Amino acid sequence: MEGVGADYPAIARRTNRSVLELTDYLGGLFEQRRRRPRADLISDLIAVEAEGDRLSQAELFGICSFLLEAGHETTTGLIGNGLLALLRHPDQMSKLQENPALIGPAVEECLRYDGPIQRISRVVTADFELRGRRLRRGQRIWAMQGAANRDPQQFPEPDRIDILRRNNRHLAFGTASTTAWGRPWTASKGRSPSWRCCGCLSFGWRIGHPSGRRASRCALRRRCR
Ligand code: HEM
Repeated sequence: MEGVGADYPAIARRTNRSVLELTDYLGGLFEQRRRRPRADLISDLIAVEAEGDRLSQAELFGICSFLLEAGHETTTGLIGNGLLALLRHPDQMSKLQENPALIGPAVEECLRYDGPIQRISRVVTADFELRGRRLRRGQRIWAMQGAANRDPQQFPEPDRIDILRRNNRHLAFGTASTTAWGRPWTASKGRSPSWRCCGCLSFGWRIGHPSGRRASRCALRRRCR
């Protein structure tokens, strides 16, 4: 599905280099925080380590790199895709510029319309049948939440971006089966400063032509039928 024609060995080498660089970078940060703790997450994780419930260096690395990826990729994707969508739909952008209090529903609509995560995977734990399709234990399945977010039975005119959309029960954070940490985040930080500091909302800034590329690991978005 992804990266058709991609140079996989080159990608693997680059990925390897990046992992090593990130390991060095985080290792340096862990060292600094051990010597001089601050009021931040890494210092807290190290403090837990000091209270008898020790986290190994590998665990610290695992938690921090996961959070970096989960928090950073999603956030930049949301802001980038969201701004691009608004720039491509100047009527929606104008509504927001005229009434910045709409930032909350606007962020929700950007999450629905072109959220940063288009699909999530699960491994089937027991054989079962879903709408006539047999799923077998051990199979990996992809839930296309980007498609669900354009489901015409749930969202009237699903392909239209509408920052005034009501009852916007999108699945950008997945379902309740896992705790998507980003949900409370968008309720606070996602809603204003990062968007405003992009200049676009408060200063009426325009990209010459909104032909930018949207960010997603998955180019597929098919409607649920
Ligand atoms: C636009 C913002 C975000 C979106 C759209 C988003 C989306 C998601 C989704 C769809 C999942 C579920 C994945 C699955 O079920 O397989 C998830 C899980 C998770 N997210 Fe986010 N996320 C966002 C921001 C963040 C941020 C800022 C953090 C932390 C700094 C974060 C940390 C996590 C973690 C730790 C999980 C795994 C939870 C678990 O497995 O119980 N996310 N996120």
